[in-house]
Amino acid sequence: MKNIVILISGRGSNMQAIVSAAIPNVRIAAVLSNRADAAGLAWAAERGIATESLNHKDFDSRFAFDTAMMEKIDAYAPDLVVLAGFMRILTPQFCAHYEGRLINIHPSLLPSFTGLHTHERAIEAGCRVAGCSIHFVTAELDCGPIIAQGVVPVLDGDNADTLAARVLAVEHKLFPQAVADFAAGRLKIEGNRVINQQRNAAGDQNLLA
Ligand code: GAR
Repeated sequence: MKNIVILISGRGSNMQAIVSAAIPNVRIAAVLSNRADAAGLAWAAERGIATESLNHKDFDSRFAFDTAMMEKIDAYAPDLVVLAGFMRILTPQFCAHYEGRLINIHPSLLPSFTGLHTHERAIEAGCRVAGCSIHFVTAELDCGPIIAQGVVPVLDGDNADTLAARVLAVEHKLFPQAVADFAAGRLKIEGNRVINQQRNAAGDQNLLA
């Protein structure tokens, strides 16, 4: 059984998708947040999952907050830490501590549009496709080895909200699959690439969602 700790900052719909997928060999040990009022925390608590929050505003440095967060996370002995809409920039120490067992979902086709406001920026840039990326986390923001990407069209008349909704539906399919691949030991990091035995055998089913 693999222990998974999920970090959220708000709604937590990706966390809900992962929990609801009931992935074989995966135990959701806890859902943690930097916001006590994150809607996803209540959803997880209702389902009997351990939840905790730590307000980043109570700490006088990013390092102090991350150190306290690491203590909380490590109490659950995680095999994998999942960032599911956790809207904090992480210290290099945090990233190094969880190297190879920390994954994030980002709402763009990386390496395009790292950071915030990805959908507005994709529309403004005139992109005809957009999407999401799931990647291992390294100290450089939104730049770690990519595990999976989902692609959607950008339609005439799209605004950031309509595009975000189309991408989110793909996020909810792709993220549980990536967690399942990790838990089953199917992901191997080679330099900046992730080799996925199952994907290679089946053809790349993630390219177009
Ligand atoms: C998701 O769209 C996720 O890709 C994005 O935040 C949203 C969280 O939604 N993550 C980032 O922007 C990370 N930089 P959720 O709380 O409903 O899962």
